[in-house]
Amino acid sequence: MMQVQWRVAAVATALSLMMAAGASAQYAGWTIPDTAKTEKSTAKNPADAAKKGKSLYTSNCAKCHGPAGKGNGPDSDHAADLTDEFRADLNPDGVLYYKIWNGHTNDMPAFKSKLTKDETWTLVEYLKVLRTK
Ligand code: HEC
Repeated sequence: MMQVQWRVAAVATALSLMMAAGASAQYAGWTIPDTAKTEKSTAKNPADAAKKGKSLYTSNCAKCHGPAGKGNGPDSDHAADLTDEFRADLNPDGVLYYKIWNGHTNDMPAFKSKLTKDETWTLVEYLKVLRTK
């Protein structure tokens, strides 16, 4: 019984610490500028853009993130599962864009020298389709 109470207290403390650390803890390891959090996709026709994004995804991303975004591609053992539902809250449009454009450490490559801005927004639209399934 004591042990259970102790565990509950420990979890509560950890949660409140995470909340006190605020938005930065949410993005474990990524530095996301505030402007990215409110930036909206510039794609005029999201459905069309998502179709283009799908083919860009297949040629640039599937090798790590897997054909359906599950994070199980052959070239990485820890690429993110992009279909997780919680990513809808975690990654609004501009945050997805920022993560693709800038990459992260050596694991997630930056695409700013490979893709145009418009192409990157089509990928954002496609990733939004992936995570609603
Ligand atoms: C070489 C393997 C590799 C390739 C290629 C790659 N990624 Fe990643 N990606 C990763 C890894 C590994 C992570 C986890 C990085 C981390 O959290 O430090 C990641 C993380 C991400 C994230 C952040 C997930 C989150 O919620 O924080 C997004 C979005 C993403 N990748 C999209 C893409 C897109 C779109 C492409 C293609 C344009 C792509 N990635 C290509 C390996 C890759």
